[in-house]
Amino acid sequence: MIKIAPSLLSCDLLHIGEELKKMEQSGADYVHIDCFDGHFAPNIAFGPDFVKAIKKGTSLPLDVHLMLENPLRFVSSFLDAGSDFLTFHQEVISQQEFASLSAKLHSRKVKTGLSLMPITPIEKIKPYLKNCDLVLVMSVMPGFSGQKFQENALQRIADLKKEREEMHASFLIEVDGGVNDTNAFSLIESGADILVSGSYLFEGNMKDKIERVKRYE
Ligand code: DX5
Ligand code: ZN
Repeated sequence: MIKIAPSLLSCDLLHIGEELKKMEQSGADYVHIDCFDGHFAPNIAFGPDFVKAIKKGTSLPLDVHLMLENPLRFVSSFLDAGSDFLTFHQEVISQQEFASLSAKLHSRKVKTGLSLMPITPIEKIKPYLKNCDLVLVMSVMPGFSGQKFQENALQRIADLKKEREEMHASFLIEVDGGVNDTNAFSLIESGADILVSGSYLFEGNMKDKIERVKRYE
């Protein structure tokens, strides 16, 4: 069944405790947390202390998306903060670094994700796939909620699904950026296992929106 990960970038930060409860009561499966350092992407948000606070405020697993120029510097802090999934960008990490990170994360029972920007060719991530628990396909450029969905994500997800079958792997396929009711069903058809959504889910009735997507399957 499709899993839903609302992105806290679009929540009402002044009432974050209530927003977390709303997510739980609406049938969300993960809490997606975006971490930007102002270098890798043109925004600054959510560090390890924030993740630590959220961990205390919800029983949902934390899906932490690192958009940092030097993510290796912060791995221990994000692990100690209580991340359940920790996702790195291919553009700033070598295959060898990723393989050793994956071992480190697994020793802490944390899942390892790899993400790529819409402009990064899918071939670039192939050497990393054997160490992935999750692949996060970005369908907008990293930085902000509310951007327009980039259609090439559909084909990229289908390619990844095919690749997963061929290599008998089991990594999850997640999509992030501009996801709403006009593209959610095509994304599921293409092979997405997890939909991240920010601005769409936090506007209006989250429960109705999540139920509609989950009923589709
Ligand atoms: C963008 C972030 C996304 C963003 C999604 O850099 O990675 O998680 O919050 O927001 P929407 O769904 O509004 O595009
Ligand atoms: Zn994200």
